[in-house]
Amino acid sequence: MILFANGERVERATVSVLDHGFLFGDSVYEVMRSYSGQLFAVDEHLERLEQSARQIALPIPWKREALAAELQQALAAFVAAHPGKDTRLRLIITRGEGDFSLSTEGCDEPQRFVIAAGLVPLDQEVLVRGLTLKIVKRIRNPHEAISPSIKSGNYLNNVLAFMEAKRSGADDAIFLNHRGHLAEGSTCNLFFVHRGLLKTPALSCGILSGITRSQVLNLCAHHKLEFAEGNYRREDLLNAEEAFITSTTKGVLPVGQVDDHRLSHVFGPVTERLYGLFHDWVRSQLGLEPQND
Ligand code: PDD
Repeated sequence: MILFANGERVERATVSVLDHGFLFGDSVYEVMRSYSGQLFAVDEHLERLEQSARQIALPIPWKREALAAELQQALAAFVAAHPGKDTRLRLIITRGEGDFSLSTEGCDEPQRFVIAAGLVPLDQEVLVRGLTLKIVKRIRNPHEAISPSIKSGNYLNNVLAFMEAKRSGADDAIFLNHRGHLAEGSTCNLFFVHRGLLKTPALSCGILSGITRSQVLNLCAHHKLEFAEGNYRREDLLNAEEAFITSTTKGVLPVGQVDDHRLSHVFGPVTERLYGLFHDWVRSQLGLEPQND
């Protein structure tokens, strides 16, 4: 694992107990990845980081180019130590040290950390059996609380949802929102094919605007694959013909089961098409040969 703290490569990165990131989850973060040694979609991630920071009134005093350069540095260090290994990178910006009360006064020095580590290789079996998802009792926090559009260090709700799913033997959780509509996974977005149409919960359902989600929707538009973004119910997913999730680290991954219900197709035609289109598109963006994975 490679660690950077405020621009310095360190053996152990430490954070003050008075840092509001530690005290209150008062921080923002992004998770990025490399494909064949190249960082992917850095600009989109840094844009979202800035949007998250704006929503919690956390000024980021560093330029996007400087943050991108530091991520490249961390990636290069990781690849030098582990040649050929795909990398996941986490960039975290905390509000910095202050008093241990809620007041942010005096938190004048945001702290930044970069962690680079190996991407956990995909269990190929998942492509055959598909993920098992559990629609959990815990709901996604509504916009009016901590908006799900903020990728903040306050992920306890997601941690607890993930625990709930794992306890029931599932691979991941699916949140409903406070209106009972499907929202998203603990760290991924949701797509499903219902009555022949590809559907995904709208951003207004209270979800993170996933970068992979947007990329997949752009691919759909480009390849004239019809889709709808809307408010959907648990039954729509349970009766889906096929489903998949998206995230930076996982890309497009098929779903095989929701609660106790096996879907009729694990790697149905729409999932398979988008899985292939996404894979090829990523490689073309990075100037890589289509078949090299
Ligand atoms: N998670 N929804 C939530 C709640 C997420 O935390 C994430 C990302 C996504 C997918 O977004 P993207 O396609 O931009 O990765 C959706 C990252 C991978 C994480 O926290 O590890």
